[in-house]
Amino acid sequence: MINPKRYLVTAALPYANGPLHIGHIAGCYLPSDIYVRYQRAQQRDIKYICASDEHGVPITIRALKEGVSPQQIVDKYHALMKETFSQLGISFDIYSRTSGKTHHDTSSAFFKKLYDDGLFEEKETEQYYDEETKTFLADRYITGTCPVCANPNAYGDQCEKCGSSLSPEQLINPRSMLSDAVPVKKKTRHWYFPLQRYEPWLKEWILQGHTEWKNNVFGQCKSWLESGLQSRAMTRDSNWGVKVPLPDAEGKVLYVWFDAPIGYISATKELTDQWADYWCREDLAAGQAGTKLVHFIGKDNIVFHCIIFPAMLKAHGGFVLPDNVPANEFLNIEGDKVSTSRNWAVWVHEYLKDFPGCEDVLRYVLCANAPETKDNDFTWKDFQDRNNNELVAVFGNFVNRTFVLMHKLCGGKVPKLHEEILDEADKAMIAEFQNTKAEEQSALEFYHFRDALFQVIELSRKGNQYLQKKEPWKKVPGGKIQATSAENQKLIDNCIHICLQLTANLAVLINPFLPGTAKKMLYMMKVVDKMLDWENAGKPNLLRVGYSLRPPELLFRKIEDEEIKAQVEKLKAGLVKPATIKKMEETKSTGNPSSDKSSAGKPEIVYDDFAKLEMKAATVVACEKVKNADKLLKLEVDLGAEKRTIVSGIAQHYTPEEMVGKQVIVVTNLAPRKMKGIESQGMILTAEDSDGKLQLLKPENPVSPGSVVS
Ligand code: MF3
Ligand code: ZN
Repeated sequence: MINPKRYLVTAALPYANGPLHIGHIAGCYLPSDIYVRYQRAQQRDIKYICASDEHGVPITIRALKEGVSPQQIVDKYHALMKETFSQLGISFDIYSRTSGKTHHDTSSAFFKKLYDDGLFEEKETEQYYDEETKTFLADRYITGTCPVCANPNAYGDQCEKCGSSLSPEQLINPRSMLSDAVPVKKKTRHWYFPLQRYEPWLKEWILQGHTEWKNNVFGQCKSWLESGLQSRAMTRDSNWGVKVPLPDAEGKVLYVWFDAPIGYISATKELTDQWADYWCREDLAAGQAGTKLVHFIGKDNIVFHCIIFPAMLKAHGGFVLPDNVPANEFLNIEGDKVSTSRNWAVWVHEYLKDFPGCEDVLRYVLCANAPETKDNDFTWKDFQDRNNNELVAVFGNFVNRTFVLMHKLCGGKVPKLHEEILDEADKAMIAEFQNTKAEEQSALEFYHFRDALFQVIELSRKGNQYLQKKEPWKKVPGGKIQATSAENQKLIDNCIHICLQLTANLAVLINPFLPGTAKKMLYMMKVVDKMLDWENAGKPNLLRVGYSLRPPELLFRKIEDEEIKAQVEKLKAGLVKPATIKKMEETKSTGNPSSDKSSAGKPEIVYDDFAKLEMKAATVVACEKVKNADKLLKLEVDLGAEKRTIVSGIAQHYTPEEMVGKQVIVVTNLAPRKMKGIESQGMILTAEDSDGKLQLLKPENPVSPGSVVS
């Protein structure tokens, strides 16, 4: 679509059932943000829409696992995701949520319209049911042994071990994840959307009309369309979701994949009263294009955005259809598929904590390594290399050298350009501004973000080569400016002038990718945001001659081996074996059910891990409060063969007086730790009650001090 009036860009609504990992970001949020930032710099009329997907099985499963309500789950993760996006500079115009009223109203009206138009088929089928908990079971709620690889924890829709996609019937020894009961079949009634009716239209629209879609997207659509579409249930038995707006539909909600994409519309409604200008079909006569709608998604969402949602929009009528659906493939981590259940993931909120100020570095690496055409691998080593060898050594280095030299050789001001002595190298360098702009622009328009970014880095590399060739510093005898001849000063001026204009260009060109970096560069150049308008890219005169600039700031810092080692260790240490909900519940009930810190999330350990602990019974012989710490008590304990000092956080639960004489259990081989200047030589075991009160653990009957606990 050429020169549309408006752009509407959506990024897949992430399920509010867990934190964001880097795969999410690389898959659709970063590419869409880059695209939108670029279009905004082009002064296009554009809206960038996203929201949390708060319905469906993923939410209810998570609620079961954490032992809380679905509402608590979505509240928690919506807030976390929203914050994470904002910190990473993902610049949605709105980040809404599908639990909102606008969305419930919009999606149920959408459903009602299709229903009133007689478009649904009502069907009764048999579905798996858990008689103990009296619930119909989504495929994900059924586990059993995989018929392909014998993994005992396969799900009713998929085996995560061998990747086979399954149906619950194929599982050997199927069990309900809710109760461990053997599921039974039971009749239920649902509303089906007859996709096959739209097949001829979809074939024409996609297979003939959108041959420009990415190969991976086009290919998936083609294979779906060629193998024939079928009716699909658009309702589910559940109490969590948008209620089916019909009488006699108690306990039924809209299928999450029916309501969620409508969330794009609801969120636009919340954003602007002019929402219909963006969403509603215009007369496209006379070659005038209306809205260009682009859905950014990950590859697992292709069928929903290319086939089901467009068919829904078409059936409803009056809406624009996507112009493109640039889906990315998956990003693996250190050679292994991301798995949230195994905790094999790099969590973005943790990254932001571990690498403060390095938001743009993650953006850079995820774009440079984006899985645009095939699955790709993220490794911490590559992250470090790209940062150190590209951002620091090439881009950052060029900008820094330019500024340092400008202050040293040109008095901190933009020097004059002496046109009469420009040589080939100067001219070629200036010509590169335009060339790069053109290349980058066409790459961005066609969703080739890696290429586009590569162009910018190459331009900064050329800047370094240019500086290296010109060696302006050598034109100053002994490094002293006063001793420079007028001719040499002209050569220096030209080189620095060009490098500064190049720096200004780099800011404009890098801005869609690394907005924080562009901002810093603006600050150094003392120019306003307006300079980042795309029309400025390619210009050789963005900075005025004689304008004085600030001293350089470090754009990027080196990332050290230790930081990388720590991340790799963290990743490996966090790995957990998947367990069924039932097993999680069991572990949890031995802990504290109301506490977030319950053992549900801790990985299983082997006996050897447990055997590493040394625990002994001890008698408290003295005890006092720790000064300036309301939670801490300092205790002297008798361990039979020795006495030890221990600092313990129990002061709000026990007085020093009542501690003396008590028996306690002490972990004795914990590395000593200083608290408030006192070295604590062990840890006292307690149990936290549901009201937060701590209780000391002690032997049922007194034992002699030093008795080993096992
Ligand atoms: N929540 C889905 C996922 O994470 C994506 C929904 S996209 C939308 O896979 F179409 F529903 F918006
Ligand atoms: Zn398997």
